[in-house]
Amino acid sequence: MTRARVGILISGRGSNMASLVEASHLPDSPYDVALVVSNVPDAPGLAFAAANGIPTFAVSHKGMKRAEFDALVDGALRDAGVDYVALAGYMRLLSPGFVAGWAGRMVNIHPSLLPLYKGLDTHQRALDAGDARHGCSVHLVTEELDDGPILAQAEVPILDGDDADALATRVLLEEHKLYPAALAALIRSGPPAR
Ligand code: GRF
Repeated sequence: MTRARVGILISGRGSNMASLVEASHLPDSPYDVALVVSNVPDAPGLAFAAANGIPTFAVSHKGMKRAEFDALVDGALRDAGVDYVALAGYMRLLSPGFVAGWAGRMVNIHPSLLPLYKGLDTHQRALDAGDARHGCSVHLVTEELDDGPILAQAEVPILDGDDADALATRVLLEEHKLYPAALAALIRSGPPAR
């Protein structure tokens, strides 16, 4: 089977991007990572991508209109022959045209059991609510923030004495397993109908 080409968008640390890259090195991976994009030119994750021989495209969004910046990113993804886009800690709201162009082929990982806790500070919000369980979700990206169809979820317990950092660490371990598995499953299920 020809491997799909995945583009990954990051804004920071890039640990989920790294887990996707590492999984792509397995012999039965249905995808290769073709490009890592960042809107933050000094995002720490870019060094990992470069060290793994993955082309990077890093341009600051500052001073650009949202749709104009997204068109630049879209062009870089298309030029790299990307089939699927994975958002991995990409801290940008996306313009409707960009999202529509990748319908069914753009995924995101979010650190909560969606539909709970869309947006930021998910770990503290789960603690404040007194929840017994928390986790992460991989979903298709639609225009609404953190709102598209859920592809996969993983749960973790919230333990006595947890603070947001401890909980984030426990969830992140699950993110690193869930994201490569969910992306591989989506790709194996075939492209969406046009
Ligand atoms: C992760 O918790 C991810 O779920 C969220 O932002 C964080 C990014 O971490 N969207 P990293 O950059 O992948 O290490």
